[in-house]
Amino acid sequence: MNTVQDISSVREQVAAWRDTGERIALVPTMGNLHRGHVSLIDVAKECAERVIVSIYVNPTQFGPQEDYAEYPRTLDSDKRRLRRAGVDLVFAPDDASMYPFGAEGMTRVSVPKLSSGLCGEARPGHFDGVTSVVCRLFGIVQPDVAVFGQKDYQQLLVIQRMVADLHLPITVVSGPTRREADGLAMSSRNQYLSEAERRRAPELHRALQHCARALRAGDRDFARLEKDGAAALAKAGFETDYFEIRNAADLDSPSSTAASLVVLAAGRCGPARLIDNVIVEL
Ligand code: PAF
Repeated sequence: MNTVQDISSVREQVAAWRDTGERIALVPTMGNLHRGHVSLIDVAKECAERVIVSIYVNPTQFGPQEDYAEYPRTLDSDKRRLRRAGVDLVFAPDDASMYPFGAEGMTRVSVPKLSSGLCGEARPGHFDGVTSVVCRLFGIVQPDVAVFGQKDYQQLLVIQRMVADLHLPITVVSGPTRREADGLAMSSRNQYLSEAERRRAPELHRALQHCARALRAGDRDFARLEKDGAAALAKAGFETDYFEIRNAADLDSPSSTAASLVVLAAGRCGPARLIDNVIVEL
């Protein structure tokens, strides 16, 4: 498994694989990899003969008060994990490769409707940073398939829409959310939690599941269910950004006859901003 920093090395390797008829799957990450990422790599391996993982902590998707500086950078242990996971190539670019003219005034890619609301409201500019960097990664690697986690559900839909709108010849595949034994979704940010916060954190998933059960049982009082979910999080000590029921396909507000819903929530548990969601097929 090679690790390369420059764009021409990735392109050369991808071209060589493609010449022999092999398909390429990309798993974009910001590093600090955990079992959740490994499960995305397993999905990628099912979709293509070659798997590339990118590791890049993208400055343009962090707000000024967010954790860009503190975000854990663990390239050496990440590489060991990726080798064990059977990854073919690691692409770990620096800022100058990703943003050769600097981030100010850069070409931006924006998916405005899906990016507004939910995490887009709590983190203004976040999704423009995500789409702008993912579009660059797609341009550099030119994968056949790209794999994203369902935990970042809004991000997944934003990227699917970007690919569709820009006619990019890439299949976006989602990987299921991996959870700890108590239901907490795996995330690099879980390590910011103190022991006491870690004990409270699974309440996020419990509140989502409670709401999902009510929906499956026929409850359609969305406003009350959202209020109850937010109250459960507040009781567990979360500073809640949102607890919302939306259409799974487009994140619009659902009608009472909608058949495919997603319940999404985000909030701060101590220093960690945690997000999670549950899909509810009715
Ligand atoms: O989900 C992430 O880790 C990031 O948002 C991504 C997709 C790698 C873009 O920086």
